[in-house]
Amino acid sequence: MSNNCTPTTIVIFGASGDLTWRKLIPALYNNFKKGRLSDCAHIVGFARRPYTDDNLRLHLHEGVTTFSSETFDPAVWEEFSNMLHYFQGNLDVPEDYARLDKTLRKLENGPANRLYYLATAPEHYALSVEGLGMAGMAVQTDCWRRIVIEKPFGTDLTSAQALNRRVHSVFEESQVYRIDHYLGKETAQNILFLRFANTIFEPIWNRRYVDNVQVTVAESVDVGSRAGYYDSVGVVCDMFQNHLLQLLALVAMEPPSSFNADAVRNEKNKVLESIRPIDLKGTVRGQYEGYCDVEGVEHGSQTPTYAAIKLYIDNWRWKGVPFYLRSGKALAQKSSTIIIEFQRPPHLMFNLPDASKFFPNILSLCIQPDEGIHLRFEAKAPDSEQEMRSVDMDFHYRTSFGSVLPDAYERLLLEALQGDASLFTRSDAIETSWRLIDTVNQGWVRDGLPELLYYPKGSWGPCEAEELLARDGRSWRMGCQDEEGTIHA
Ligand code: BG6
Repeated sequence: MSNNCTPTTIVIFGASGDLTWRKLIPALYNNFKKGRLSDCAHIVGFARRPYTDDNLRLHLHEGVTTFSSETFDPAVWEEFSNMLHYFQGNLDVPEDYARLDKTLRKLENGPANRLYYLATAPEHYALSVEGLGMAGMAVQTDCWRRIVIEKPFGTDLTSAQALNRRVHSVFEESQVYRIDHYLGKETAQNILFLRFANTIFEPIWNRRYVDNVQVTVAESVDVGSRAGYYDSVGVVCDMFQNHLLQLLALVAMEPPSSFNADAVRNEKNKVLESIRPIDLKGTVRGQYEGYCDVEGVEHGSQTPTYAAIKLYIDNWRWKGVPFYLRSGKALAQKSSTIIIEFQRPPHLMFNLPDASKFFPNILSLCIQPDEGIHLRFEAKAPDSEQEMRSVDMDFHYRTSFGSVLPDAYERLLLEALQGDASLFTRSDAIETSWRLIDTVNQGWVRDGLPELLYYPKGSWGPCEAEELLARDGRSWRMGCQDEEGTIHA
């Protein structure tokens, strides 16, 4: 394959869907506005609706004005929208891929790279890949061919392995980019920079100094209009298998020798493989009250909308340190946070009125909506003898960098175009994480335990999740600001 193919065509399967409208096109528009899409000649939307190019452009225009983080510039849009084309086709019809290929060749009018983006319903992933294969559209003779696959990648280990096999029957692993949009968030990418571009954190980032680690991805929104999908998967497949385990891998992995995609992904997979099979006694599952009344949810559904899981990583760095993970919908507030709670000092020489109230040091990696880092430590209260109070040292992107953070899809699309797969999940990591998650999901169904607990909307989930930590003499920590700028310690 020669590398001289500068023009690139992006083909989006599922072009009339929500993801294309809300995320993909606004991200491409923003990249174009920043001058980063100069090599892209065409963006072709594939869907079933009888659209024309103009219909597509009009529909996507609304998405860009509504969702782009950049200010809308009509002149830029005019130029960008000329790159947009529509192709009416059916993912189930093999001839439609051959027709698409013919259309693309005509548009490209010469050698061009291609990025295929599967933004379709997951049940179409394998068929689309095979359709591309049968039409010879994955072959890299002159130019590269890459495929981006959205989540969920399978619904358990068996289906993920089957999907991997079907994908690999057409594309080499190096051509495949499995998206986890959490990895495209600046605040998630910054975890490796915090750990490995500084010297002060790494020496204490281990079992000798860390008491426990907490990963919270709390959502205030409920299931909304996605019940059809959500009810068949639940929170563990929807959030833990991908986002929470990926955040945990970034926090717990060993330093890779370089920032190269395979070096990073080897370390991530190693740490996921070191997670001890999860003990169901260390799990809590919940469902918000009223979930079963939502249209699309099966009557009497047992699908969890909340889970808390305790796990251990059996390696030299983390042996014995508990990692507590929780996520849920319809919770009190939106907050994605990673807490590193440090051990207490070995000896307290101060004369404290109540030593049990002594707060440990907490480093909070705030993913969203507070975007930054907080370090909480103890300080002597002024004008007191030995009184101390927890104080906060903080970093916020908005004040330190003075700009709105780009949407995760902007970075992910660019990386896929540039052929850097470090922010994408490799097949082995997908399978390792499903292996862990299957133990939980299948165990819950098999044993019916722990029982499904109901929690009020707007709460912090079932009280048993507090007890999970209380049993270990710990509690969930909140080290980041909420949307009003308050930290609920
Ligand atoms: C998606 C899940 O992957 O992530 C959704 O399918 C969830 O259920 C969403 O709401 C959360 O993403 P973010 O970026 O809003 O935290």
